[in-house]
Amino acid sequence: MHKKIVIGNMKMNPASPVEFGRYLDALEKEIKGKKFEKTEIVICPPTIFFKQFLDRKLKNIKLGAQNVFWEYQGAYTGEISAGMAKASGAGYAIVGHSERRKYFGENEEIINLKLKAILKSGLRAILCIGENIEERKRNQTVEVIKKQLKGALIGIGAGKIEYIDIVYEPSWSVGSDNVPTSDEILEAKLIIKKILSENFSHKTMEKVRILYGGSIAKCFVNQVCIDPAMDGGLVGRESLVPYELVKISEMVEEG
Ligand code: PGA
Repeated sequence: MHKKIVIGNMKMNPASPVEFGRYLDALEKEIKGKKFEKTEIVICPPTIFFKQFLDRKLKNIKLGAQNVFWEYQGAYTGEISAGMAKASGAGYAIVGHSERRKYFGENEEIINLKLKAILKSGLRAILCIGENIEERKRNQTVEVIKKQLKGALIGIGAGKIEYIDIVYEPSWSVGSDNVPTSDEILEAKLIIKKILSENFSHKTMEKVRILYGGSIAKCFVNQVCIDPAMDGGLVGRESLVPYELVKISEMVEEG
């Protein structure tokens, strides 16, 4: 059985190293003395704060990147490669997040390139997929999950798939306080499994963690991280409050 995982996506927060220092003080206090045997906790702060995070040597908490570029190095002003993130202490990278799709025009082709670069660098990938509000209204959830997942996985072989955690994260839920029902989440999981089964053996597929993301808060954990069906969650806003992030992680750990 693999471990569950709770990922804190801090997005473009907090506003300064001083504030991040305060965040780490609080996180250190919250995590102290707590054991997580069944759950990994990963935080994805802005890359510029990586060293500050690592200097704290927080036990139980791993580091992830929110975004990486697909090339290894070169003349790509402003970009950071997967290899750089890995060499700077990250173990994970998020890819396919709905905000990257929406604000930065990332499509399946770009996400596929990034996913391949992440896996090649030795990072684990946290791949986000999910429908937006218009697609939901048009009843296109199944279609969108299929398209996004198949597109992202082009050229990814059986030896690599286990290094991908797939997050069903409908963009209408991100930042909204609206979450799907447990049934809707389980249905999304079934679709994901079905797509994986078209390309991978049962044994290989079982190694892939499937999570939920979007407006996760304490009050929704049992609804969206449904134990034992879901393997954890991707947490946005609530990860900015160390008490909440640790509490959510404890709830996932307890199942
Ligand atoms: P949210 O964000 O928890 O604030 O809805 C989730 C995410 O963007 O991963």
